[in-house]
Amino acid sequence: MWARSARVLRRVVLLLPLLLTALALLLLPRPTQYSPPARLPSPPPPPLPREEAHIQNSITEDENDIPVKGINQDIEDEPRLPWFMSGGEQRPWQHDPGAKLFPEDAPGDDRIVQQLTYTLPKDEDVPIKKILLANGLGTWGVSGGRTEFIRNKCPVDACSLTADAREASTADAILYKDHHIPFSVQRPPYQIWILYYLECPYHTASLRPTSLDVFNWTATYRRDSDIVAPYEKWVYHDALFTEKEPERNYAANKTKKVAWFVSNCHARNRRLQYARQLSKFISVDIYGACGSHHCPRADPNCLEMLDKEYKFYLAFENSNCRDYVTEKFFVNGLQHDVLPIVMGARPAEYAAAAPLNSYIHVEEFAGPEELAAYLRRLDEDDTLYNSYFKWKGTGEFINTYFFCRVCAMVHANSRRQRSAHYTDVQAWWRDGSCTRTDWRPPQSP
Ligand SMILES: *[C@@H]1O[C@H](CO)[C@@H](O)[C@H](O)[C@H]1NC(C)=O
Ligand SMILES: *[C@@H]1O[C@H](CO)[C@@H](O)[C@H](O)[C@H]1NC(C)=O
Repeated sequence: MWARSARVLRRVVLLLPLLLTALALLLLPRPTQYSPPARLPSPPPPPLPREEAHIQNSITEDENDIPVKGINQDIEDEPRLPWFMSGGEQRPWQHDPGAKLFPEDAPGDDRIVQQLTYTLPKDEDVPIKKILLANGLGTWGVSGGRTEFIRNKCPVDACSLTADAREASTADAILYKDHHIPFSVQRPPYQIWILYYLECPYHTASLRPTSLDVFNWTATYRRDSDIVAPYEKWVYHDALFTEKEPERNYAANKTKKVAWFVSNCHARNRRLQYARQLSKFISVDIYGACGSHHCPRADPNCLEMLDKEYKFYLAFENSNCRDYVTEKFFVNGLQHDVLPIVMGARPAEYAAAAPLNSYIHVEEFAGPEELAAYLRRLDEDDTLYNSYFKWKGTGEFINTYFFCRVCAMVHANSRRQRSAHYTDVQAWWRDGSCTRTDWRPPQSP
């Protein structure tokens, strides 16, 4: 009897590491945002008709809510939009002490929406937090004092901006843009130093060795920054409703294939070479210094051509860096009626930042010839081509109210008595961030 229980016990003990590993795998936060969607070069399945999708949504949202509304086709019952979306009125009303604001709260998530919907308890007197802009107010296009927070109706507006260096010893936070110019005053322990970068590592200057371990937070386009400051942020009106039938045929009347506006012909990722290869297999019109087509940058008709004449646009970044997706994609590409072909960040990083099925990544194909073959297929199949426009009208590019979020974060940080800093911000920013080739592991021979 004893021996048997001992045997069972031993078996359990032997299995324990296995069980624990399985459990850990189950519990590990999954970077859902980063998982690449199955974007194989084939048309996605037809979406549910709208009413049906609505019924499904109701069920998922609340199982007790029998979707009578859906059956009655009361499809006007749109979700109320949050305050930061156009026409949105929903404002946060309850303080959530566990809000996922900081990188460690939600790895892989940009937390922008959580930061925009964070608010302080209503019944408390909160002190005004002073934020010093080390590079001046003008660089940021803001005015001093509380104007920026009140004008924008920030849910957390108890902050004040200043550019006065005399406040360096008392400010709650100091925001540095691109450089670190030390103020020669004692730094209080509660003071948060934030390093902001707009550009990618190739185009930002190195910091002095003495400035590497002084920053508490970063504010960059990178998703693991404390305050993520992307070039654009896409948000669905309803997270469960990501597609609708295109209102028109986006292929109609288009006679040209691929367009590209480019001025820097020596980008590090060899995008020009890729485009020239591509042009051997499909017509590519290169506008600007590196090509033979001309259209002045300031002329609005240039971008209009993308809506009316071209099927594809090369939204190639000048550098292949982690999360580096700029207005070349968001504005020239997505905000026109053209299908962007992207090169820059990793495929999974585009998937995390872009609307579903809104672009083609060059790394979905072995090379330019395979990509061209797929583009020719899209060119001949309007249904397939239009399947890349189903995201239009399901959401919007939001104003991410950078200073509202800075204010919310400074308050949240002091409420939580959180303390953190980068031991080597340069290593965080640069090491392994960019590649001169594509992101795929080199082919084994
Ligand atoms: C295509 O051209 C025709 C004739 O010029 C025009 O009536 C139609 O509106 C155009 N379609 C689109 C989608 O631009
Ligand atoms: C900010 O970083 C410094 C080190 O650079 C550290 O001493 C300090 O405790 C940090 N403060 C906060 C509020 O995180």
